[in-house]
Amino acid sequence: MKRIAVFTSGGDSPGMNACIRAVVRTAIYHKIEVLGIKHGYDGMIKGEFSKMDSSSVANIIHRGGTILKTARSKKFLTIEGRKSALANLQKHGINGVVVIGGDGSFRGALEFSEICDIPFVGCPGTIDNDLIGTDFAIGYDTAVNTVVEAVDKIRDTAESHDRLFFVEVMGRDAGLIALRSGISVGAEAIIMPETKTDIEDLITRLESGRKSKSSKIIIVAEGDEAGGAFVIAEQVKKRLPDYDTRVTILGHIQRGGNPSAMDRVNSSRMGFAAIEALLAGKRNVMVGIIDKKIAYTPFQNAVKHHQRLNPDLVRMIDILSL
Ligand code: F6P
Repeated sequence: MKRIAVFTSGGDSPGMNACIRAVVRTAIYHKIEVLGIKHGYDGMIKGEFSKMDSSSVANIIHRGGTILKTARSKKFLTIEGRKSALANLQKHGINGVVVIGGDGSFRGALEFSEICDIPFVGCPGTIDNDLIGTDFAIGYDTAVNTVVEAVDKIRDTAESHDRLFFVEVMGRDAGLIALRSGISVGAEAIIMPETKTDIEDLITRLESGRKSKSSKIIIVAEGDEAGGAFVIAEQVKKRLPDYDTRVTILGHIQRGGNPSAMDRVNSSRMGFAAIEALLAGKRNVMVGIIDKKIAYTPFQNAVKHHQRLNPDLVRMIDILSL
């Protein structure tokens, strides 16, 4: 292995920079040249390659976003796009690739492997944490902490005005951000796509709950089948008009910000392990951390199912919010 490429793809997530840094410095340690590709698969198609060295990743471990920029590439979905990408990898003499991204990025790598025999190793970068093969994807912990910080502030207003808040969080069609943040903020209910949403049940819970509670916070995962926070709040308001109800959509603040210590350490470990995987001859696998140990999962398994909600956590929600 003489020369590798690294790129970020899909939605950015805090910790991607720490992972790029680890990839670059581990490769250099092993005397492997590194080229960074800007703008994900789009940049691979357009030829946005540039050499990276130790100093190009200095002072980035603490920064959110990605210095390599990112994109969700439509062109890579076409065979012409993939052929141009392959031609560029070959032109630059690339013998291995590290892709930092989510399920779309790994699906892309799998599809690419039909025409490209250069080994790809993935590092899971997605705040949604919806991949099999790692307990925590890069950015998930930071995103949850961002939600917690924001909802703690909302709680102050909710408490002062005796209000019912519906707070919508990201996660695409996964409820993992909602679950972990909801438990952390002591939410009165957590609405997630993986569990059945019963508005009648929610209303009963709100009505039968402890009357002395002045504030109530319901966390709603954006992908819930009942609709987003606005839709659910409307339904509840019709039935409980006396509640002073508000809706907050947290949106993209969940994707930004300095990575937490946990994300910095995990990202460093995964970037380091990605280079070791390429050196060991692995291909089309995602690096992950399961039970504190590095694990490798084939791309096709990593993207197959969403990570399931921990049933122990789900069981606690209603009991702890009484
Ligand atoms: O996958 C990360 C994520 O932030 C999801 O939680 C969200 O549904 C989506 O990306 C938003 O994507 P975009 O930034 O392209 O609007």
